[in-house]
Amino acid sequence: MPLRQVSCPLVSEASDRYVQVFLILRFSKHAISPQNAVYNIRVICYNTKQYNMKKPLLAPSLLSADFSDLAAAVRQIEEKKGSAVHIDVMDGQFVPQISYGQPVIRSIRGLTALPFDVHLMVERPDAMVDSFAEAGADWITFHLEAATHAHRLARHIRSLGKKAGVSVVPSTPVSLLEELLDEVDVVLVMTVNPGFGGQELIPACVRKIARLAALRAERGGRFLISADGGVNERTAQAVADAGADILVSGSAFFSGSLTGDF
Ligand code: DX5
Ligand code: ZN
Repeated sequence: MPLRQVSCPLVSEASDRYVQVFLILRFSKHAISPQNAVYNIRVICYNTKQYNMKKPLLAPSLLSADFSDLAAAVRQIEEKKGSAVHIDVMDGQFVPQISYGQPVIRSIRGLTALPFDVHLMVERPDAMVDSFAEAGADWITFHLEAATHAHRLARHIRSLGKKAGVSVVPSTPVSLLEELLDEVDVVLVMTVNPGFGGQELIPACVRKIARLAALRAERGGRFLISADGGVNERTAQAVADAGADILVSGSAFFSGSLTGDF
């Protein structure tokens, strides 16, 4: 088998496979001279770097943090290489629980320079985006299922100087997003039903991420894809492989099993 065919599938795996790739090449019949072997190893180095550049960002969700010490939770997100603080706002209407709102966001805003990724699981998001922007949100994501005029709302969020996000629950098909894709900076695909942390990821939602990524490639879209719910050390790679750019993780991150180094 030619060397190029041997190396391609391997370099798409994590860099801890690097030594394994090296050994295969050294003992391959095709590594006919030491010079040739060095050349092939250099190619793999380069490809591995390319792969790492595409690694998704981790946005830990405060929903699984100890609410009595949110400052410590924010520090933990910084220390464990989170790229954003995911803040799940629940109103007791769109989802059954009530979590936190603008005053809590305002009170932790000064603790970090990391972006605040505010996920509004609320009815009537249009009535709330201004106050969340003022409280310190950087990315504001509303649910397609809760917005009557999603196009107008996405444009309004951008007009506030914020990143606009739209989210879909597991039963909402990707096709319903098509007319919005040029108006948003991020599409948050819920990989569990919204409302609670610690649920099992729904595999069909990972296939939705793959469909959305294919649609983005086809249209030359610029939005990011975020995956939210059930992302842990067992599922993160499959979600990333499907095309997610941002992994939201609550219970796995705060239990210590998933970090930004995954
Ligand atoms: C669920 C929230 C998620 C949740 C993820 O409604 O939107 O952000 O915190 O929690 P895990 O990672 O535990 O599924
Ligand atoms: Zn969320």
